[in-house]
Amino acid sequence: MTLHNIYFSAKGTTRICAECIASHLGISGDEHNWLNPSQRNPMEFSADDLLLFSMPVYGGFIPRLCADQISGLTGHGTPAVIAAVYGNRHYDNSLLQMKDLLESRGFKIIAAGAFLAEHSIFPTVGAGRPDEKDKAAMVNFAAECRRLFDHPDLWRGKDLQVPGTPGYDALSFKGVPFKPDGDEHCTGCGQCIKVCPQNAICRSDPHITDSSLCISCGACISVCPTGARNYHQDAYPAAKAAFEAKCAAYRTPETFYIA
Ligand SMILES: Cc1cc2nc3c(=O)[nH]c(=O)nc-3n(C[C@H](O)[C@H](O)[C@H](O)COP(=O)(O)O)c2cc1C
Ligand code: SF4
Ligand code: SF4
Repeated sequence: MTLHNIYFSAKGTTRICAECIASHLGISGDEHNWLNPSQRNPMEFSADDLLLFSMPVYGGFIPRLCADQISGLTGHGTPAVIAAVYGNRHYDNSLLQMKDLLESRGFKIIAAGAFLAEHSIFPTVGAGRPDEKDKAAMVNFAAECRRLFDHPDLWRGKDLQVPGTPGYDALSFKGVPFKPDGDEHCTGCGQCIKVCPQNAICRSDPHITDSSLCISCGACISVCPTGARNYHQDAYPAAKAAFEAKCAAYRTPETFYIA
């Protein structure tokens, strides 16, 4: 029995959530951050394994490159736990999308959770999340997932219901208008180029971002040692203020179990 902890985390909060849940499942295994192309390999799982699949929410869905990458996973009735990590707006169809895609690849979703994090584009929204209450919710979630994993008789033949609108169009999210680029503090170190999952940063001039490729994940902002990379568009401050007002209410984690 092996735990496979797969997630995509550009700015680190999905990783914090995935590792928190994984560490309280009490099953040893491996970890793969799909931000890194070398960790995005086809994998096959047995019915004795457990998949923990955690994704950030982008426009109400999971990042498109991850949705596509799920076709490289093959389960054989493998139990799976899914977690959506979102920036205090909403997780919309992300759990249903993960469930649909993973079940089409031979997994059985036994539990799902939607957890809170700092918003990676507007970090004042959800600032400090996941906090201690969020982490306590994840610890409880892990305990319940472990109980289900240990007792297949509780869920065999049953189906987990998760929120979402059947018939959703995952391709309807076309990205956000804000794309990071570099400013005068750029030293040309190239760290942003190495981490970008989309190869969207110009190799000869890392100030420049190809907006048609960039998914605004923020990985380049996280690794930039000088603070040169950020959202420099004129419209950003007003959009941030509007988003702060819209998403001010403190949302709490939600969990769903098959039995
Ligand atoms: C392109 C993009 C779209 C996003 N869309 C949503 C959303 O629909 N709802 C939400 O609550 N948060 C949204 N967020 C915020 C992320 O879900 C959240 O910050 C997440 O924790 C990022 O994970 P990371 O820190 O592992 O990169 C979005 C972030 C990005 C970059
Ligand atoms: S990580 Fe920052 S300093 Fe380094 S090349 Fe990129 S923008 Fe410039
Ligand atoms: S350039 Fe865009 S896609 Fe690349 S790391 Fe930065 S935000 Fe992500």
